[in-house]
Amino acid sequence: MPETIRLDYTRMLANATGGRGIAPDRLDALRDRFRDVHADTERRRTSGELGFLALPYERETVEHIRSFADGLGQAYDTIVVLGIGGSALGTIALQNALLKPFWNELDDEGRDYFPRLYVLDNVDPSTIGPLLDRLDPRTTLYNVISKSGATAETMAQFMIVRERLRAALDDDHYRSHLIFTTDPEKGVLRRLAAEEEIATLPVPPNVGGRFSVLSAVGLLPAALAGIDIEALLAGAAAMDERCRTDDLGANPAGIFAALQYLADTEYHAPIHVMMPYTDRLYSVADWFRQLWAESLGKQHDRDGAEVFRGPTPVKALGATDQHSQVQLYIEGPFDKTITFLTARELPIDVAIPQVYEGIDELAYLGGRTLGELLDAERQATSAALASRGRMNMTIELPRIDAHAVGQLLMMLQIATVYAGALYGVNPLDQPGVELGKQLTYALMGRPGYDARLDDGDHATHVIE
Ligand code: PA5
Repeated sequence: MPETIRLDYTRMLANATGGRGIAPDRLDALRDRFRDVHADTERRRTSGELGFLALPYERETVEHIRSFADGLGQAYDTIVVLGIGGSALGTIALQNALLKPFWNELDDEGRDYFPRLYVLDNVDPSTIGPLLDRLDPRTTLYNVISKSGATAETMAQFMIVRERLRAALDDDHYRSHLIFTTDPEKGVLRRLAAEEEIATLPVPPNVGGRFSVLSAVGLLPAALAGIDIEALLAGAAAMDERCRTDDLGANPAGIFAALQYLADTEYHAPIHVMMPYTDRLYSVADWFRQLWAESLGKQHDRDGAEVFRGPTPVKALGATDQHSQVQLYIEGPFDKTITFLTARELPIDVAIPQVYEGIDELAYLGGRTLGELLDAERQATSAALASRGRMNMTIELPRIDAHAVGQLLMMLQIATVYAGALYGVNPLDQPGVELGKQLTYALMGRPGYDARLDDGDHATHVIE
């Protein structure tokens, strides 16, 4: 029986933070409200609005992905994901948590003969140009991922790659180096797939980009690189089951959302730092940053009233940021919560040799391990923060494997939906992102978008 992840929120509360943290009665006061939030979430699950909740149970998609990954997918030594935002960050999180470190630098044997995996997530020519120059198109599969099938960054990446493929391969063969993951019916990618006979996988229409890591968006690249997607989904399903209770005290996603919401709205702590104490989970913090920001940062509430709400998620890394950010977290304004991510067992540990036994400043390290040092640093930082009245909590994975990561990703997605309900905003839309996309289309000359560039008649102020 795989173990469950654990959330220790003692130091979010007043009595562990010298009275600065959340008063237990404020958390208790949310219990009844949480029952409504939970009922609303379950209603939206049943109506199909929250498509991401169904993903762990979609056997057909998994079998489709598995048969592609085990069959045709084996023909490539490199996979490149073309996508951005919700179409890229989940895959990066899975890659860094679950593949061996330095994956793309390992030889075939080191990778157990699974392909290298690159995820672009930007259009910086200084990265993409050299990467594409290094890859052999004849042994590379390009997975173009765009739910809308229109995002400028992804479409530009695709157009460049397609021309390189056509230049290197003949007209019949270029298409077998492309697979599109997109809406099952709508969008330009879907149309091109039909016209050019390119393989596709669907992003369910009721699953938004930042909630899509457990759909074909994250699962295909993960399966191609050898990640155990069945265990990932089983972990997600286990967390979904844990969160079926409307008892706030027993629902980990509920507690996480409620504490963050209270910290922001009643304790003036709108900055929510996620700080993994392992490099393997740093990209999960990056993925969460998008999930929390894009879902909760809203001008309007669900009734259309102007509210300008939303916490600001920040990512940090332990122990690295103890020497960069932690001074601010411990002594700066009381405007933050810190969530540590850790694992009871690290996949790899390194012994510190027992040398310099006569030098007190070094001898204490000898015979210990880097894992022990890292964990001591986490415990020390958490205690130091609490001693200065700073709210912090710890999410502890049993180990960093697919099952535990599946639990974590599902917990944070469900927490985001609960938080949306507590804030009274729709966590599933992103009108601000869409505005940015439309202005980009205008600047790049897409027909029909010119008028949107007009930002009023005023002087500009520039210093050069
Ligand atoms: O979460 C979201 O909806 C966004 O971050 C999108 O994932 C991102 O804008 C990319 O969109 P698309 O997948 O349509 O190309």
